Amino acid sequence: MTNMQPQIEELGKQAHKELAAVQDAHALEAWRVSYIGRSGKVPEMLRNIKNLSDEEKRIVGKEANALRRELEEAYEEKRHAVTKLETKGLPTIAPAGGGATVGHLHPLTLTLNRVTEIFAAMGFIIADGPEVEEGKYNFDALNIPLDHPARGEGDTFMIDPASIGGAQDIVLRTQTSPMQIRSVQSMHLQPPFKVIAPGRVFRREKVDATHESTFYQFEGLGISETMSIADFKGIIAEFFSVFFEKEATVRLRPSYFPFVEPGFEVDMSCVFCSNGCRICKYSGWIEVMGAGMVHPNVLQNMNIDPKKYQGFAFGGAVDRLTMIQHGITDIRLFWSGDVRFLRQFS
Ligand code: FA5
Repeated sequence: MTNMQPQIEELGKQAHKELAAVQDAHALEAWRVSYIGRSGKVPEMLRNIKNLSDEEKRIVGKEANALRRELEEAYEEKRHAVTKLETKGLPTIAPAGGGATVGHLHPLTLTLNRVTEIFAAMGFIIADGPEVEEGKYNFDALNIPLDHPARGEGDTFMIDPASIGGAQDIVLRTQTSPMQIRSVQSMHLQPPFKVIAPGRVFRREKVDATHESTFYQFEGLGISETMSIADFKGIIAEFFSVFFEKEATVRLRPSYFPFVEPGFEVDMSCVFCSNGCRICKYSGWIEVMGAGMVHPNVLQNMNIDPKKYQGFAFGGAVDRLTMIQHGITDIRLFWSGDVRFLRQFS
């Protein structure tokens, strides 16, 4: 039993008690904000998990996430009941004129929150860092040489030195990988640790149905004396199983990223079919992220001794996960501002 378990139980009881007393939409919204809204008590509890020990994180994270789901379901049920109550006896043709519409989170924000919560429940510390980044972090510290094609203006948005007081080599980050070194430095992390860093990235892309110039990634890093590829596979299979609410396995294919050795592409077993479908292109596997074992040079740039420590790094794509989850076929819809598309995620 951890210190937080009785608190979770008490919070659940209190939330159900107050929800039972709710009679109208105003009171229901106040309840939602207080318990499951972004700054509500349950998300706050989930954020506090990062201060616990690994063992406690696992137990408390699981229970707090279960409570969150339970309260979200109870909220939905109550919302239907309240709507029914409030529309009972009203004329079937509504009078002209618009009422205020209630907004909701963007589908990419929903995925970002969910990804972060799942990793936090597995003991990952959450890190945040700048979108306008030094070339030193985006490239050099990641073992990406000066002549690498990604460093050219053709692929990367460069910030004009004249517009920022002459500072050289400042870019819009092209990946969340600079957070590998930044998070270790800014939080003074010492192994063993696991970090997750979700965020927005930018590439000078020709935009099409599967490529945006602005999209989101999540970077993961796990370092200890013994952290292995097997640990990585276990963690990632668990992540996808929770995310898609269906048991998933992963397979690794060799690939190259300068900051890992060995590097691999990660495929997840298709969670939509058992013998081939359109989503997995009839292969039974869906490509979901790049990953690898952190290169010794990168460990050194983190001031971590590569002779003593080792670990994995991975980079997943939030937009792609959201597209797979909801069967969205055009990435451009996310930034289209088309409310007919967005309303489907309320
Ligand atoms: C990377 O960005 C590496 N930083 C990933 C990594 C991290 C490897 C740690 C090893 C260790 P890549 O360029 O393949 O890798 O991008 C990762 C994912 O981002 C891709 O699988 C793809 O799903 C997504 N992605 C890449 N470009 C775009 C784009 N223009 N629009 C939307 N998603 C994209």
